Amino acid sequence: MKLNSKLIGTGSYIAGAWLKQDPTFDVTNPVNGEVIAQLANADANAASAAVAAAKAAHKGWSALGAKERAKILKRWFELVMEHQEELAQILTAEQGKPLAEARGEIAYGASYIEWFAEEAKRVYGDTIPALSDKNRIVVIKQGVGVVAAITPWNFPNAMITRKAAPALAAGCTFIVKAAAETPLSALALAHLAELAGIPKGVFNVVVSTHAKEVGEVLTQDERVAKFSFTGSTQVGKLLLAQCATTVKKVSMELGGNAPFIVFDDANLDAAVAGAMVSKFRNAGQTCVCSNRIYVQKGVVQEFSKKLIAAVKELRVGAGDEDNVNIGPIITHKALGDIGALVDTAVGEGAQVAFQSKLTADQKEGFYPPTVLTGVTQSMQIVQEEIFGPVAPIIEFDTEAQAIEMANDARVGLASYIYTRDIGRVWRVSEALEYGMVGINEGIISNEAAPFGGVKESGMGREGSKYGLDDYLEIKYLCMGGLDE
Ligand code: SIN
Repeated sequence: MKLNSKLIGTGSYIAGAWLKQDPTFDVTNPVNGEVIAQLANADANAASAAVAAAKAAHKGWSALGAKERAKILKRWFELVMEHQEELAQILTAEQGKPLAEARGEIAYGASYIEWFAEEAKRVYGDTIPALSDKNRIVVIKQGVGVVAAITPWNFPNAMITRKAAPALAAGCTFIVKAAAETPLSALALAHLAELAGIPKGVFNVVVSTHAKEVGEVLTQDERVAKFSFTGSTQVGKLLLAQCATTVKKVSMELGGNAPFIVFDDANLDAAVAGAMVSKFRNAGQTCVCSNRIYVQKGVVQEFSKKLIAAVKELRVGAGDEDNVNIGPIITHKALGDIGALVDTAVGEGAQVAFQSKLTADQKEGFYPPTVLTGVTQSMQIVQEEIFGPVAPIIEFDTEAQAIEMANDARVGLASYIYTRDIGRVWRVSEALEYGMVGINEGIISNEAAPFGGVKESGMGREGSKYGLDDYLEIKYLCMGGLDE
């Protein structure tokens, strides 16, 4: 059934106009593959037009006072929150996450708009004591110019606002190519941006299945000053290489393989609660989901028992059904990949300690919440990102061994530790090669905190007081001519 919402346009939103022309592409509900919308399929020319629109709008938007930009962003935030329920329903229909989580994502996404509306007024410069009495040194910060972004399907709203809000706050103009699986949330954001008074060309959305062609424009057009991407490390590397052709400023929020370490002095009930939220949020389809659960030998039996008891309570189903915790997996390919990782782990000696039962009609779109025990460090499921509701438990002996196994990865986004020993908190947090460490906390993302990773998890930070820096250039003014 087609979605009926005034917030959904006919296609890309470029220079304040909605693309209407053929050909179109289908947007489907991942629960059952039903077509919920058809949108004009933008090509490379449309992407170029979006860049031209953003370039043309830049002069006016960057010249606005920070207070005026903040006011408009604040209005956008309010409109998003006023439409929270409708936006959540759109999000669930195209992405599949349970409605309660979708409502949470809308509030989470809006929080970045509110945060950066406030930060817009705090772009401080600096004065530096000059080395000579003949001049003075002043540092100012200015928006980088046109920003282009490519965002993923797992957070169709929040991954856009986390980039667009700081860009607009800094006086930049913005183009996002939304994921082809989940373009409707992006278009709904554009509708509300227009209603909020964001001028034409300042916020543009390109929706398209031509990822390669559109991506080439956004990464190679010399009018784009900065490129920001959230997605896999593999695609991030390609885009990074493309950005090198015009030496763009880049931010990359790439894959993770989060270790979740439970020490024998931990509060086990808190650790299980943390593992549940960190592992099963969005059916395990987030970059910060715990991927490998390391449990110290003395508590591994008890922890596994408690975790299995909690996983048994999870309810699988369509996101708009009541009390559902685990929605569908985004595509058949993704579903197959999760199944293959579990099969390989079992072939390598892991045991399926628990797996939920699916109904016959769920088997096409869902993966059953699963707990694996007897998992070891060399297994493929430990080395790769699962992106599904599967919790592999790995036993360890000593603190040093836990740190070594956790750091044995090419990526370093989120990590989690559960312990009540304050010395251990510091030792382990400092030793982990990760951009973020949750200490006795399973959910660590919020607008006040710097989200980002090290190693092949990318570069740059989103959110927080640091999040604006990625959209600003530092300009040094050397002032001479001070003689009378
Ligand atoms: C992501 O999965 O990329 C984002 C997760 C979050 O913001 O918590």
